[in-house]
Amino acid sequence: MLPSEYTRIFMTGATGYIGGTVMSALLSNPKNDTFEITALIRSAEKAPLFHSIGIKTVIGSNSDLDTLTSLASEADVVIAAADVGDLNAAKAILGGLKKQHEQTKKVPILIHTSGTGVLADLADGNFTADKIYSDLDIPKIETLPKSQPLREIDLEVVAADEEGYVRTYIIFPSTIYGIANTLLVSLGVQNRHSIQIPRLIKAGLARGQGGVIGKGLSLWPSIHIDDIATLYTTVFDAATEGPDETGHGREGFYFGENGEYSMGELSQAVAKLLFEIGRGKNPEATVFTDEELDKYFGIIGRLMGSNSRACAERGRLIGWNPAHNVNSLYASLKPEIEEIVAKQTT
Ligand SMILES: NC(=O)c1ccc[n+]([C@@H]2O[C@H](COP(=O)([O-])OP(=O)(O)OC[C@H]3O[C@@H](n4cnc5c(N)ncnc54)[C@H](OP(=O)(O)O)[C@@H]3O)[C@@H](O)[C@H]2O)c1
Repeated sequence: MLPSEYTRIFMTGATGYIGGTVMSALLSNPKNDTFEITALIRSAEKAPLFHSIGIKTVIGSNSDLDTLTSLASEADVVIAAADVGDLNAAKAILGGLKKQHEQTKKVPILIHTSGTGVLADLADGNFTADKIYSDLDIPKIETLPKSQPLREIDLEVVAADEEGYVRTYIIFPSTIYGIANTLLVSLGVQNRHSIQIPRLIKAGLARGQGGVIGKGLSLWPSIHIDDIATLYTTVFDAATEGPDETGHGREGFYFGENGEYSMGELSQAVAKLLFEIGRGKNPEATVFTDEELDKYFGIIGRLMGSNSRACAERGRLIGWNPAHNVNSLYASLKPEIEEIVAKQTT
């Protein structure tokens, strides 16, 4: 049994780009010596490396619903950052938090990961949408139908908060960029790369020419990996230290953005860089065919060609102050390309 001033944290996705960066940030929290952190990880060979920095591990996945429930039932704070589209896993975590509340009357905390993909339209790159969602404008967010990406899970999480057995906080990362450079990366247990921009680069490399989705007119918000990690830790600090002053449940949506980019400008920048290193036939991006979108992007293509226009205000109200803007996104492309190319040639 831990002393009562200890905070028991259970985390999923700790070997991932987001989760590993968040866990590394938690390890440098001034209160770290009062944390007892447990990570659910899929690869047993990484367990000793986690143990070497004081993290407990349980081997399993989001499919091990009983394990998720059991671990959540023993945590003061759950941070969910693995495969965020898994409704059953979210329900299993909520089930464990509910069980804990029923047994102890405590109200644990869930910091769940969603994404600004919830705002996506069907632009396929072909138009710019006017609609911008602020995370403070709850009525506008509540107009989003359940059919929007990840929305059903967000609603499940909010409903749990409304039942009163858990305080829920949902982080909505936008396009995260930048190569992760963390303690967990240095241990060799964490993925360093994001999803959307590496996918665009890899598609350009594979077809020998940078490409663009549709007319390139759609807009997305973006956030540097270190800044999304500080959004999680800002919410963590606020939720644990001032639960009554910190929005949760339907008032607990925290968008992660610090500047928009257009699909067209991003694609042109990638195409130009690929051309400069001799991996693109032309410095101008050419339009991906439907076959190429299927082949290189799968379901992510629809998302990447959509408009997702978000204004992150709630996190800033509790002290979140992202350090990087969209210029950093463009500056991140060259090192990202160089690392992807180097990996492909080794
Ligand atoms: N990167 C972005 O820009 C962004 C933005 C918004 C939302 N998201 C979403 O946030 C989640 C994490 O993103 P990420 O960029 O950190 O991805 P990532 O680097 O691929 O990390 C995914 C993490 O989840 C774990 N995982 C995947 N499937 C699992 C399963 N079935 N059971 C247990 N663990 C599982 C992975 O474990 P292994 O190491 O064993 O594979 C890894 O720890 C994803 O669902 C992603 O779609 C990402």
